[in-house]
Amino acid sequence: MVATPVQQKYDIKDISLAPIGKQRIEWAGREMPVLRQLAERYAIEKPFAGLRLVACCHVTTETANLAIALKAGGADALLIASNPLSTQDDVAACLVADYGIPVYAIKGEDNDTYHRHVQIALDHKPQIIIDDGCDVVATLVKERSHQLPDIIGTTEETTTGIVRLQAMLKAGVLSFPAMNVNDAETKHFFDNRYGTGQSTLDGIIRATNILLAGKTVVVAGYGWCGKGVAMRAKGLGSNVIVTEINAVRAIEAAMDGFRVMPMDEAAKEGDIFITVTGNKHVIRAEHFDLMKDGAIVSNSGHFDIEIDLQALGAKADNVKEVRNFTQQYRLKSGKSVVVIGEGRLVNLAAAEGHPSAVMDMSFANQAIGVEYLVKNKGKLAPGIYSIPYELDQEIARLKLQAMGIEIDTLTEAQLEYINSWTSGT
Ligand code: ADE
Repeated sequence: MVATPVQQKYDIKDISLAPIGKQRIEWAGREMPVLRQLAERYAIEKPFAGLRLVACCHVTTETANLAIALKAGGADALLIASNPLSTQDDVAACLVADYGIPVYAIKGEDNDTYHRHVQIALDHKPQIIIDDGCDVVATLVKERSHQLPDIIGTTEETTTGIVRLQAMLKAGVLSFPAMNVNDAETKHFFDNRYGTGQSTLDGIIRATNILLAGKTVVVAGYGWCGKGVAMRAKGLGSNVIVTEINAVRAIEAAMDGFRVMPMDEAAKEGDIFITVTGNKHVIRAEHFDLMKDGAIVSNSGHFDIEIDLQALGAKADNVKEVRNFTQQYRLKSGKSVVVIGEGRLVNLAAAEGHPSAVMDMSFANQAIGVEYLVKNKGKLAPGIYSIPYELDQEIARLKLQAMGIEIDTLTEAQLEYINSWTSGT
């Protein structure tokens, strides 16, 4: 008789990296007090007992703390990477070796492996999907409609994922509830702004070791992420130019003190370019032609579509890895353009993503979103739901408490005043 090979319940780089991962996950946990409190409650209440859950997230120390919290609550959780370049291999190893969580994620995996992992995640027959960019949900809807009856709902982390879910809803193909984690105030005010602001520059600095003071930094997109990047670049002494397609945001950027202009003007001035728009080909062929020799381009938007690398490749006669995650394209014109992290999320490709203190609130929202879906199973019509305001506020209260900050409360007279319409001038 031929023995059947035991199927490995993971696909990671190297399981022996687990001890390093454990130390780093615990270090991140120190900065995640809100998630820790939830995990402690979940360990007692077991709200997710037996629940088949798939998380498609960046496999970082912060995501590990989320996965551990969900598992403590009884979830049968499986984790895959939401980006081929963002996985921290030691973290993946620790989750498998120390927590028994199946992980399918390898830093640098190719697109085929990425999509194979999405299929493996769907083979887990999830009832809940935690998505970061909507790839698992989109694949489920496109290719596995027979699994739709299993689905209780999904939670979505990113602006990009929410845009995709809205398009699905409009097309009439979203047949289950989706929690909009991104729109929670305790998520996007902090994660998108301060998280992206700091981690994007961290990625650029780690990759290039360049001085930002005195450089002209072009930030494409002035949403919450762009605001954070522009603010932090200014703080480091850069001259910041913002490009936008939205008139209101362009005014905001101008009144925040930034120069605003179209990309074909900014292209001539920038030393460093950072795209955070969520749209494709924001930097494209005609812009590369206008750039200074040695210009550095990077992206911190969810997908690697914001910089048209194919167009850049067509202009180049040589591409050389000059530092880790840093490629120098020598153009036929004689100039060079430097690309960080293959145009993928520079904060996760070349650094470690957002710091734990902001992911604490983002992932508290994720956990609460999952809890909300489970508690309301069968009661929510297909659609996109906000995290309830009270729960968002509760996350903020817990975070403040952990930060040792106290705030005022309304007096009786103030309460009465703001609830009345009779008293005026
Ligand atoms: N997205 C941005 N930063 C992240 C992090 N540190 N962990 C997980 N997802 C992220």
